[in-house]
Amino acid sequence: MKIGILGSGPVGRSLGNGFASNGHDVKIGSRSPGKQELQDWLKTTKGKISVGTFLEAATQGEVLVLCPLGEAAENVIKLAGTENFVGKLVIDATNPLDFSKGMPPGLFVGTTDSLAERIQRMLPGAKVVKCFNMVNNQTMTNPRMKEGLADMVICGNDESAKRQVAELLKEFGWGEPIDIGAIDSARWLEAYVALWVRVAMKLGNWTVAAKFLRS
Ligand SMILES: NC(=O)c1ccc[n+]([C@@H]2O[C@H](COP(=O)([O-])OP(=O)(O)OC[C@H]3O[C@@H](n4cnc5c(N)ncnc54)[C@H](OP(=O)(O)O)[C@@H]3O)[C@@H](O)[C@H]2O)c1
Repeated sequence: MKIGILGSGPVGRSLGNGFASNGHDVKIGSRSPGKQELQDWLKTTKGKISVGTFLEAATQGEVLVLCPLGEAAENVIKLAGTENFVGKLVIDATNPLDFSKGMPPGLFVGTTDSLAERIQRMLPGAKVVKCFNMVNNQTMTNPRMKEGLADMVICGNDESAKRQVAELLKEFGWGEPIDIGAIDSARWLEAYVALWVRVAMKLGNWTVAAKFLRS
């Protein structure tokens, strides 16, 4: 599958590597695809993976992953061209983190709205599924922790898009994701990350992940 990844930071690179390792054809989007640091990183990757503009990644991708800085998400969508999202699964890994008061962060949108809902409103023809936002980038493609397999929680309005995400998650070794409903449930998935950061800081471990134990 052709996957366009809109974001060249740690998340874009981790997911890009992961999807390419699973045999997908990946293009990572950036404002500056030619920058040396990104080109150097590209040389360390394996499989079908390239770098381009946000517009090129969005045009090429049959499935799109949105992973820019939360505050830049709306700008990145405009740079990518809203028409290039129509009819596509859009995996939203962003978080609306507000670092204006330092660490730990707050949220710049919530809890009566969410960044995922803003994105879905900007892209009414796209099937936005919130996924991956609740774990560290290293855990996204490697969910097996020392203490067991982490859980992934997802939400979105389109049932078939969520099933497609569940299949992609399986390729990375995740179990069946916990689907908490429509895209407005992203309010709580995004708010959870503010808690996650506080837990990670307290434990001094940035790859902690949630496992919901069943009785
Ligand atoms: N880091 C994690 O472990 C983690 C885990 C879960 C969720 N998330 C979320 O995933 C997203 C990506 O996080 P990240 O750590 O990979 O990197 P990041 O530093 O939050 O984002 C990097 C990306 O944002 C783009 N960007 C920054 N400012 C921009 C602007 N003004 N206009 C357009 N694009 C802009 C950069 O563009 P260029 O390519 O042009 O530099 C780059 O592609 C964030 O929303 C974050 O909250 C992160």
